[in-house]
Formats: sequence, C-alpha cells, structure tokens
Amino acid sequence: MAQRYVFYGYVIQKKGCFFQDASKIFCFSTLTHTPVFYQRDLLYICSFLKGYIMGKIVSFANQKGGVGKTTTAINLAAGLAVLEQRVLIVDADPQANATSGLGFESNDRNTYSCLVGQATARESIQQSAELPNLYLIPSSIHLVAAEEDLRSMERSQFRLKEVLAEVKDDFDYIFIDCSPSLGLLTLNALVASDSVIIPVQCEYLALEGLGKILHTIKMTESQLNPEIEIEGFLMTMYDSRLRLANQVVEEVRRHFGHLVFETVIPRNTRLSEAPSYGKPVLLHDAASSGATNYLHLSKEFLRNNS
Ligand SMILES: Nc1ncnc2c1ncn2[C@@H]1O[C@H](COP(=O)(O)OP(=O)(O)OP(=O)(O)O)[C@@H](O)[C@H]1O
Ligand SMILES: [Mg+2]
Repeated sequence: MAQRYVFYGYVIQKKGCFFQDASKIFCFSTLTHTPVFYQRDLLYICSFLKGYIMGKIVSFANQKGGVGKTTTAINLAAGLAVLEQRVLIVDADPQANATSGLGFESNDRNTYSCLVGQATARESIQQSAELPNLYLIPSSIHLVAAEEDLRSMERSQFRLKEVLAEVKDDFDYIFIDCSPSLGLLTLNALVASDSVIIPVQCEYLALEGLGKILHTIKMTESQLNPEIEIEGFLMTMYDSRLRLANQVVEEVRRHFGHLVFETVIPRNTRLSEAPSYGKPVLLHDAASSGATNYLHLSKEFLRNNS
C-alpha cells in the first residue's frame, strides 16, 4: 500500500486558512500512524499558532442599553486575568463605565486620542494595580465627538483596527466595550474584532431586540470584516424565580442553539455594586453568585478558544 498522508487540519480549519507549507506538520501517515514533523515547519506553525492564539479581539455589543455589556466585559476580563490570560479592555463608550468600573481615571491618552492619531495604543494602556494581567485603554468624554471626527478621516471604519494592530500580539485577548448605539464607533469595534459577544437580558421580547445588532454584524461581515464571528449570546440578569426568565432562555437557545453560552449570569446585587468600588466582582466579593458565574463563563470562554 502506498504511503498516504491524511490531513489533520483541525486548528487550520478552525482558523479558516490553508497553509500549504505548514500542512506537513498536521499530516499523519496512514502506514505508521505517526505525525510527520519537520523542524522548519514546526517553527512556521508555532508562529502561525501564536498569531491565532494571541490577541483575539472581542467586541461586547448590543444597541439595547443596560443589558450587561460593560458588566460582562469587565468581569469576563477579570476572570480571564485570574486564569493567567493577559487581557486589554478598550473602553469605546463615552459613558466610560468600564473605565470607572475598574477604578481607572480617564487622562489625555485614551481611546479617542488613539482614534484621532494624538496617541498610540501602547502609550495609552494602563495596568490594573490589583490584577496585573488586566490592562485598559480608558474612555474620555471626547468620544462623543469621535463619530464626527472619524467621518472626515480616510478609512474611517478601520481606524480602531489600525490602532490596535500595534498591540494585538501583546495580549491574549482584547475586549472592546461598545456603547449602546450602532454608529461609526461601534462599527469600528466590529471591523477590528475577530468575534462579538452579545449580552441578552432575560426579559420579555428579548429576541425581538436582537434584529438590529445581528443585521449590523451581517453587514460588517459582508462588506468590511469577513472574519467576524459571533462568539456567543450571553443570557444576563437571570432570575430563576421568574417563569418568564426560564422561557426567555429556552427561546433564545431554541433560536441560536450552540451559539448561546451554557453559563447564564444571574441577577446579583454584588455585580451591580462592584463598579462603585471600582472593582470587578471577583475582587469585590469572590464568594458571590455573580463572581462564581463570571468565573464559570471565563472557563467556558477559554474552552471555546482552546
Ligand atoms: N447580572 C446583574 N445583576 C445585577 N445587576 C446587573 C447585572 N448585570 C448588570 N447589572 C447592572 O445593570 C446596569 C446595566 O449594566 P451594564 O452597564 O453592564 O449594561 P450595558 O449594556 O453596558 O449598558 P450601556 O448600554 O448603558 O452601556 C448596571 O448598573 C449594572 O451594574
Ligand atoms: Mg456599557
């Protein structure tokens, strides 16, 4: 029997790329049942995998206000930081809730100054004192004017992508906390992102509200960023005592299937009070159900990305 190589392309398929030169590393001989390695390919594949694993950019988006975008960005980032991942949060919302919720203050190097070219991403990054793996580019009130300023720039939808390219490989994950609008700022976030997390509040007509954000993601995918994927829908503010909440979760799962995170975030007072202490809930009350569930989500997120 002639020796054949079976292409073992899980990682490559997942990325959606095909590397002819690197494919040998993923070949198995049907005669010897052993992988075929070449050192040159190993080096090549390592740099490829590093590019894949490092710096995944994830947006937190939903045009509906108050559904848990910022709470999720902060607490998922904190959970991942505890699990030894380097995470950068980019606060792209003029409300600056992620900035204040993590105890940071805005200064003159922020998301706005990066977008308009007055600062670079690297020089705008601040490190959390309590969680050394957690970093932030703060928001500023000037972001209110960003849409106007961006419109007069070339490649206005690609500004944030270009800004983050400088630091993409310095982090395991970069999270962009979007505002509750689907304007040019959120479009910049989606264009820069590899995936998007859509928090969905467990309330009446939850599915109805998703049409706009899904349309925007589809439009971004077809015209500006073909690589973008939905990382997951996250059910938030779940109250197990309410029959409606259970029905909503079931309905969203029926509709979106495996795209809905298994972890459901409960309504929890510790989650809502933590930002006033400038802390993620894990540092505010590690024993709370909010902390437990966001840590659970962090592990699920890592499993999905391993
Ligand atoms: N699971 C939860 N339990 C209790 N309170 C929560 C929970 N999730 C979020 N909150 C609170 O609900 C409010 C809205 O949450 P959050 O700011 O995360 O939403 P958002 O989608 O980022 O809002 P916006 O659209 O204004 O940016 C906040 O006061 C937050 O503390
Ligand atoms: Mg927010």
